This record gives sequence, C-alpha cells and structure tokens, in this order.
Amino acid sequence: MKKEFDHCPAIINEAELYGFSWMEHVMAIPSPLVVVTSYKENRMPNATMQSWCTFTGENGYYCLFASVNKHGHMYTSINKTKQLVINFPSKDIFIQCMKTIEHNEYEDDEIAMSGLTAEQASKVNAPRIKECFLNLECEYVWERELLPNSSHVVLCVKVVNVCMDEAHYNADKNGRYGDTGYLYNIHSPRNPDTGKTEETCVGIMQKYSTYDKL
Ligand SMILES: Cc1cc2nc3c(=O)[nH]c(=O)nc-3n(C[C@H](O)[C@H](O)[C@H](O)COP(=O)(O)O)c2cc1C
Repeated sequence: MKKEFDHCPAIINEAELYGFSWMEHVMAIPSPLVVVTSYKENRMPNATMQSWCTFTGENGYYCLFASVNKHGHMYTSINKTKQLVINFPSKDIFIQCMKTIEHNEYEDDEIAMSGLTAEQASKVNAPRIKECFLNLECEYVWERELLPNSSHVVLCVKVVNVCMDEAHYNADKNGRYGDTGYLYNIHSPRNPDTGKTEETCVGIMQKYSTYDKL
C-alpha cells in the first residue's frame, strides 16, 4: 500500500537531522560516492567525500555538485585554484577514503595521511588519487546558492580530462559495476511509520537487464 507524506512524520524529529530534510531519510535515494581532490592554499592536498552529485553532457561533460559546504576546505580551495579532480573509489579503498574526514586539518596532506597516494593530475592543477579507478580532471564553471544565504552551494565543473583504469572500462575484465566498480552513498534510510533508522552504508550496483531483452 502506498502512503503519502507532505510534511515531516511525527515520529521523526527534524531538529535531530543535522540540517537534512526528513525527505532525505524517508526516500534515501542512493547517489554516486566520490572523493574530490584539490590543493589548499599551502599546496597541501585536500580530499573531500562528496555524494550529492550528478553528471550531464551538453557541449562538454559536467558534474553538478548539489550541496558543497561553503565552510569546508574543498570550497575554499576550488574557489582559489578553479581546478579539481573527481576520484571514484571502489569498495577495496572505501575505508581509506573515509579517513580523509579524520585528517582534515589545513596542514594535513589528506591523501597520504589516509593511506592513499597522491599523483599530479595531467591537465589541471590538482592532485588525483592513484588508487581510484577513475579520475575526472575538472575546471570550475559556476556556483549558485540553492536558496539565498544557504550554507551550501550548487557547483558546476567541467571535465577536461578522463583518466580511467582500462580494466574497468573493459567489461570483460573488472568492468564499471559490481564488486569492483562504482560506489553509492545510502544515507541513513528511515521508516516514517516506526521511526526505525538503518545505518548509513555504501551500495554497489548489480546489473539487471539489457534493454534488448525487455
Ligand atoms: C559519504 C559521504 C558523502 C558526503 N557528501 C558531501 C556532500 O555532498 N557535500 C558536502 O558538503 N559534504 C559532504 N560530505 C561531508 C564532507 O566530506 C566532510 O565534511 C569533509 O570533512 C569536508 O572536508 P573539507 O573541509 O576538506 O572539504 C560527505 C561525507 C560522507 C562520508
């Protein structure tokens, strides 16, 4: 039976959601999990987990980050250098990627301290993470506040160079999906009837069907 929700269910206390909408948790729509790298003003590598993002192409290929914290290093660094790398980890290095959140001081080399390897990007002034199977080298295009005075911005960047492990673009080897492929962020799903919360976790994608078999 389908149910409708047009306001926060009584069982959920919005004040405890750290600024997220109750809809975020009731729907818990998975989104791609990436690590954005750039140089801080002191040239130390910065690494930021990002998940509210999507990709689109029209006269080029772009990433739209839906919600970048204006008070984080990523925002400050990218506003300065206008360049960044979007790194795609597979699950074997997920724990190291999460460690970038613990190593988040201005003086920190956030990539090395998390057990990962920084390498200079080819086309932009930013580090990229060697262990990630895909690195998108990008340039800043524009940013907008979602609402006036938001603490976060919508950020659009253009991909100018793609560095991808051939074992992942070859579907006869690892491929892009499944156990060794793209990760998705599943952000604390919640039952709006009981209030029961599931832990935040990471998802991997299983292919279901090719269209010609439909
Ligand atoms: C799975 C995951 C996804 C995240 N997605 C975002 C995001 O989309 N936008 C954002 O501003 N912070 C996001 N964060 C939080 C930042 O990664 C975190 O605050 C980080 O420490 C900021 O680093 P920085 O100050 O170096 O930019 C996410 C964290 C995790 C664990």
